[in-house]
Amino acid sequence: MEQRAFGNTGLRVPVVGMGTWQTFDVRGSLVDRRRLVTDAVFETGATFVDSSPMYGEAESVLSQTLEGRRDRAIVATKIWTANDREAARQIARALEYFGGTIDVYQVHNLVACGKRLDQLERLKAEGVVRAIGLTHYSAQAFGDLRRAMEDPRVDVIQIPYNPQQRDVEASILPAAADRGLGVIVMRPFAEGSLLRKAVPAAALAPLAPFGITSWPQALLKWILSDPRCHVAIPATSSPEHLRINAAGGDPPWLGPDERAYVARLAR
Ligand SMILES: NC(=O)c1ccc[n+]([C@@H]2O[C@H](COP(=O)([O-])OP(=O)(O)OC[C@H]3O[C@@H](n4cnc5c(N)ncnc54)[C@H](OP(=O)(O)O)[C@@H]3O)[C@@H](O)[C@H]2O)c1
Repeated sequence: MEQRAFGNTGLRVPVVGMGTWQTFDVRGSLVDRRRLVTDAVFETGATFVDSSPMYGEAESVLSQTLEGRRDRAIVATKIWTANDREAARQIARALEYFGGTIDVYQVHNLVACGKRLDQLERLKAEGVVRAIGLTHYSAQAFGDLRRAMEDPRVDVIQIPYNPQQRDVEASILPAAADRGLGVIVMRPFAEGSLLRKAVPAAALAPLAPFGITSWPQALLKWILSDPRCHVAIPATSSPEHLRINAAGGDPPWLGPDERAYVARLAR
């Protein structure tokens, strides 16, 4: 798995990690099943994991599956509330879940961004947060995100990027590169919809020289061939899918012609 410098954060990240929205929002015996997915995270080196208090049980379940190995993962999570007391509760819970340190702490969907950045700045000064991030999923909010990225306290952004959702190419990715921000790519498979399309093996044959043997790998390589993107975080409930996705994290990377070809296949 390739590792990249994560903007100017001083961290290095594996280019493929894992999201937890929906997939880790489980209870009971399913928690043990998700432990197998986290086993695959460590087996493949896809050790950048992302969660949020917005994702139901996901933060808690992720922390349970990291037990005994949290130090070997890069944990990204979020604060998601306009209420100050709830924000304090979310922070206390996350620090308890993740051994007192959050590697990348993000303001989820820019909710109460100014107040949350003040809190995250204090936590970073105390040494319990290593990098501060902002996320948004919607192109309609990219104007606000673009302005918020100018705050010098921001180290990282998390944005959607895949062959069907390319809005970040206009100004978000160029600005992130200019400012030396770390870039996390959410929704690499457009919430799975890009994978519901049947792409025949013969259509992938021209991509074989790039080590691509599956459609999910082609999509991840399409993203990661843009060096402004540092880590893509596909969510999965399947150890087998995790392994397939992790294999999209090795060079060689695609050139412009192959990227255009993958984008055509995704149409
Ligand atoms: N505002 C925000 O901050 C925000 C918003 C959205 C997302 N995110 C983050 O980004 C992460 C990723 O986005 P996402 O979860 O929306 O969508 P995604 O990663 O684009 O797609 C996830 C879906 O793809 C399927 N999948 C994954 N690997 C597969 C494979 N190899 N073969 C077949 N199916 C596969 C999964 O099903 P299986 O379980 O069957 O594998 C799941 O249904 C989230 O989990 C979350 O951590 C953040």
